Amino acid sequence: MRHGFVAGRCELSSPSMQALTNLLFQLPQKETHRDGIPILPGGLPLVGHAPFNIGSPLTFLRNAASKVGPLFWTKNMGGWSLVCMGEPGFELLKNRVTSSEFIREQAPDFIGDSLLSRDGVPHRNLRSAMSGAFTPRGLTSSGAAAISAEVIEASVASLPQQGPFSLLAETQKLALDIIFRIMGIDRSELDAWNRNYRDFVMGALPVRIDLPFSPARRASRGRRWLDARLASLISAARGKPDMKGTLAALLAARDEEGNALGDADLIQNLRLLALAGHETSASVMAWLGIVLAQRPDLWEKLRDESMAAPGLPRSPEELKRHPFAEALFREVLRMYPPVAFTAREATEDLVLHGRRVRRGTMITVPIGAYGYDPAFFPEPENFDPSRWMGRRVPPSAIETAAFGGGPHFCLGYHLAWVEVVQFATAFARELTRRGVRPQLAPGAAPPKLRHLPFGQPPKKTRLELVRAA
Ligand code: HEM
Repeated sequence: MRHGFVAGRCELSSPSMQALTNLLFQLPQKETHRDGIPILPGGLPLVGHAPFNIGSPLTFLRNAASKVGPLFWTKNMGGWSLVCMGEPGFELLKNRVTSSEFIREQAPDFIGDSLLSRDGVPHRNLRSAMSGAFTPRGLTSSGAAAISAEVIEASVASLPQQGPFSLLAETQKLALDIIFRIMGIDRSELDAWNRNYRDFVMGALPVRIDLPFSPARRASRGRRWLDARLASLISAARGKPDMKGTLAALLAARDEEGNALGDADLIQNLRLLALAGHETSASVMAWLGIVLAQRPDLWEKLRDESMAAPGLPRSPEELKRHPFAEALFREVLRMYPPVAFTAREATEDLVLHGRRVRRGTMITVPIGAYGYDPAFFPEPENFDPSRWMGRRVPPSAIETAAFGGGPHFCLGYHLAWVEVVQFATAFARELTRRGVRPQLAPGAAPPKLRHLPFGQPPKKTRLELVRAA
């Protein structure tokens, strides 16, 4: 039997969002088209469509597309952006006629000159040097999968016995601990790394005023601390040829031309790994717990699979024993994509959905929307892990669109996969050992998907553990 999904019913069906979009279309509009492409109505002076987009960009963009078609202009604080839905949008991620290099100028202190903001040969060289450590084999041989299992088991074992708790707060801490530990950071230093990292991410806020205690001041202090510690971590690791872990694998890595990574590349990219690899996985794990709290049928299936396994998977072979946990991972990502959209800059004139688009145009690709497209996922509103079960071929590129596509496809895809399956398995094993199951705390309404900027459940959504029948 298919269960209609109760947890976080797709924001698209939210009546308030639909009413808002309808309202926008009734507002008078001076300009209706730019270069023959429709402009979304309702843009306000200075801030454009940003106020309507905040929190629910997927709903907003999909509602808009249902009214004006798959290609349209929106205006945000940074200027015009062309939204391109559907397969032509996904094609742009291949960066044949587009580029990601604009990110370097947009977020110099935050993302800087890292993997994400390079293209062409510089990107290929860096990526080929880094990717070995993140393949399924690389994660096993560097010990990263074992470290992740150890952190997850300890974290799940320390979940409160009683009383409501925020699972997101727990998974955020554990995901950051995993990334830092696989970089070779000692357990005793994790709190200091966590603190300074939290300061550094304040750099994502659009407020640039530099005063004592302002977010900008804390962000640059956090970044200086992290960079100095990363530099000493790297120099210590260079003196230990038998060291294991991701940092050791990155130090030993060579690109296609046989070059090792220099210190500057290592620092920029280790910082990127912490950033890219923690909020995302943490939010998937938290959603997974919230879904299980509302679906006892799925909980029982996961419990049976997890208890039949000898422990948490640490290798590609062991992962195969967890098809249901993997299906949950994929279905949670489909319905709760942590990243709603990404962007590219057109490097030449091109044609999208039959319209000419000029070189230099900024294009938004709503990667989180593919999971809700009935062309790829029948009955997309239903949370149904069975759609991923019993397959003989790996998921297609569009089916993994939550991780992007093309040359910038998420480097941490396999790490996220192994972490989330380990988390699901550990959660089910620990709770079964205690004789309890998860449930939404009384008064907690089923949470809605919001992107602020990641698609996390609200921190106030609490779970509690109740006696299993
Ligand atoms: C569920 C978890 C995750 C999701 C949904 C996710 C999503 C994404 C997306 C959408 C991109 C592409 C962005 C673009 O093309 O503009 C990306 C890139 C990237 N991700 Fe992830 N990510 C996840 C976990 C991780 C983890 C655990 C790591 C850490 C190793 C990581 C490291 C990276 C890196 C380094 C890139 C840049 C790759 C490149 O530019 O070549 N991600 N991720």
